[in-house]
Amino acid sequence: MLTLTRALFCAAALTMASLAQAADPIVIKFSHVVADNTPKGQGALLFKKLVEEDQNLKDKVKVEVYANSSLFGDGKEMEALLLGDVQMLAPSLAKFEQYTKQVQIFDLPFLFNDLAAVNRFQQGPEGIKLLSSMDEKGIHGLAYWHNGLKQLSANQPLREPKDARGLKFRVQASSVLEEQFKALHANPRKLSFAEVYQALQTGTVNGTENTWSNYQSQKVNEVQKYFTESNHGLIDYMVITNAKFWNGLPADIRTELEKIMAKVTVEVNKQAEALNQDAKQKIIDAKTSEIIELTPEQRAEWRKAMRPVWDKFSGEIGADLIKAAEDSNKSQ
Ligand code: LMR
Repeated sequence: MLTLTRALFCAAALTMASLAQAADPIVIKFSHVVADNTPKGQGALLFKKLVEEDQNLKDKVKVEVYANSSLFGDGKEMEALLLGDVQMLAPSLAKFEQYTKQVQIFDLPFLFNDLAAVNRFQQGPEGIKLLSSMDEKGIHGLAYWHNGLKQLSANQPLREPKDARGLKFRVQASSVLEEQFKALHANPRKLSFAEVYQALQTGTVNGTENTWSNYQSQKVNEVQKYFTESNHGLIDYMVITNAKFWNGLPADIRTELEKIMAKVTVEVNKQAEALNQDAKQKIIDAKTSEIIELTPEQRAEWRKAMRPVWDKFSGEIGADLIKAAEDSNKSQ
């Protein structure tokens, strides 16, 4: 009798344990390297909020956001995604070179005239195709998020390309960006985002390129006297997930998450420019640095100096793809 009671008790305990297990939510760890008050930071938090509020996902999916390289920084985050230690990332488009050469297109200097052109390319057939260009490597692209156009910074004024000659510039892990600074006879140095402030402070590098929101949220204006509003390139993101994880999700959950991602993408891409302009204003108000505006002639000089980089990469990227991106500058 005692044995039977014990057996029944054990069976009940096991059922309860497996029920509890079945009810465990799917955890999506979303790791990134920037601050919360940036387009990507805001996007990650909005994704978390909308998943939490969604009645179909309630108790089924939990999103954890790790900002400011607090879980994984550059260099480690992609490996973590492939190992299943995180489920979502949104690396800058400059950081995919190891996995696809085509995505390097977004680093070509002076390719897009404005974010509207970037939108047309990303949402067009070529841009959409690039989202699955790494599927075979286990990385699936879900969306493009904007940050914005890049500006130059240094501790001396950069008005003409010759002003950059001999200076050391921090670049993201991108061969295109390395070549861009070499074309100016400057010295590029690949450093992770988390290292930027200190590298500028200690003089490891003399300057860099980034968006207003990344500059302001990292307090780069404390360690850079001059910013040049060059709008010479782009910092945007591909939101990516581990392909195996994504394909293994129950179909209804995956569809719901895709819907939410689409909503978040619209919102991020709508807000990004305003966030950057707000950050620029904060830098102006801080009175730490001078912002240099280029004359059209000066900007044309920068374009002329950086453009030879295109020829070096058109083979790897594909001339047709570059042509499609250039065409996106013409509004329909
Ligand atoms: C950088 O490394 O400069 C940026 O791409 C960081 C980011 O994610 O915006």
